[in-house]
Amino acid sequence: MKITFTASKDALQKGVAAAFMEKDGKPPAAIAALDEESGGQIARAIKAADFGGAKGASLDIPAPAGLELERLILIGAGEAEKLDAHGAECLGGRMAAALLKAKAEKAAVLADAPKGCPLKADEFAARVASGMMLRNYAFDKYKSEKKDDRKLTSARLVTAAAKGAPAAFKPLRSLAESVHLARDLVNEPGNVLYPAVFARKVKALEKLGLEVEILDEKMLRKMGFNALLAVGQGSANAPRVAIMKWNGGKQGEAPLAFVGKGVTFDSGGISIKPSNGMEDMKGDMAGAAAVTGLMRALAARGAKINAVGVIGLVENMPDGKAQRPGDVVTSLSGQTIAVLNTDAEGRMVLADCLTYARDTFEPALIIDLATLTGAILVALGKEYAGLFSNDDELAEDLAAAGMATGEKVWRMPLSRAYDKMIGHDVADMKNTGGRYAGSITAAQFLKRYVGDTPWTHLDIAGTGMAAEKTDINPSWASGFGVRLLDAFVKEREERA
Ligand code: BES
Ligand code: MN
Ligand code: ZN
Repeated sequence: MKITFTASKDALQKGVAAAFMEKDGKPPAAIAALDEESGGQIARAIKAADFGGAKGASLDIPAPAGLELERLILIGAGEAEKLDAHGAECLGGRMAAALLKAKAEKAAVLADAPKGCPLKADEFAARVASGMMLRNYAFDKYKSEKKDDRKLTSARLVTAAAKGAPAAFKPLRSLAESVHLARDLVNEPGNVLYPAVFARKVKALEKLGLEVEILDEKMLRKMGFNALLAVGQGSANAPRVAIMKWNGGKQGEAPLAFVGKGVTFDSGGISIKPSNGMEDMKGDMAGAAAVTGLMRALAARGAKINAVGVIGLVENMPDGKAQRPGDVVTSLSGQTIAVLNTDAEGRMVLADCLTYARDTFEPALIIDLATLTGAILVALGKEYAGLFSNDDELAEDLAAAGMATGEKVWRMPLSRAYDKMIGHDVADMKNTGGRYAGSITAAQFLKRYVGDTPWTHLDIAGTGMAAEKTDINPSWASGFGVRLLDAFVKEREERA
């Protein structure tokens, strides 16, 4: 989607024009001028429709008299004082949604901040543009009838801050593209996106300046990724581990490590899942997709920080070679795992990836993302991702980034008592903790692989796939985590 900024109001004279109106406010000056040209027809339409600029309201005025316009669309901005960066993004999202509904391909959007909005003019316009891009997404590659009318091709944003807006928008554009990448990966079905294919797509990110290393099955065996390999051994599609490095910070400074669960399809294995809804398990790699999107975003905006991404890519299938309930495997860390349930595979994949990240990079912190448990949906629904951490400051920073981006996280407890629930008589631990506190015992399992490294685990089973539609996300795959972690990293860059 092409986005340009201009200070000239002439752009609002032809085709599709759009603007925001604050709650109980008046239309912006440029729209009032159009109203005058139309002999007051716009004002009459606003009155007749009882459009008061409330958040969520919109008004589509087709072919206003006396103007060359095809239509004028007004979007309620709600209370201007409450418009923070994410609020402005949501406005952009609602703007894009209204334009798509009107089957517009191109539009001129008046993007001056409503009076009282605390954002700077260039930041407001850039955030609106970002929200429009995030909303303007469809995974339609498998539709033989291409519905081009489902996507906007270009928008011209009219703003007094047309000089500063492009610079403010540049990193947001690459961030939105990275969210789109994460969504594409999660939406892609399991027959198309299996571990080798995912790894190839990661390798292609080298052109952005990331260093990428792919570990194949043979190397993984040699290195001792036995827990990860055990999950993959029932599949005809061999596992991979992809490692992405971004060195934008000081040389020798310990990196931030991001680890992702990349189960490209989770059938459950021998502990097979019920067939109803199993198709959703193509999205069981949303953690890995988020890490990939994040690393792409960091590289594209030239983040001044060192970061590594480690994703474990496997397919969990039942066959004659598959692991069985009761198997005991020795993980990369040396700790042994009794596999009581082959459907609790994510933690086994992550265990080896966490160990690898810690031992190889001695990172300043580790954040892992995983569609780890159905139980997190029981606890938090689709509103918040579950956050588990051994470090209060890290947990608080992530919660703040969550509020700022709308990718919200809620902290859950960890403790010795929960840890005891994964003890086993034969092995060091079992891979399930029973019916109760399922998300917590899964997190306790991961905790055993991070030592004293500051660490946070985000359970995104409710937010990363089969996600709730929002102003800025129209898709089954939300790309959850990319914007959250980009904001978290940016905050640390600015602090340093
Ligand atoms: N990938 C699933 C978790 C999941 C469930 C993600 C629903 C998204 C939506 C995970 O591998 C799994 O199967 N977890 C089991 C763990 C249990 C066997 C201890 C679960 O949540 O039931
Ligand atoms: Mn599973
Ligand atoms: Zn899974």
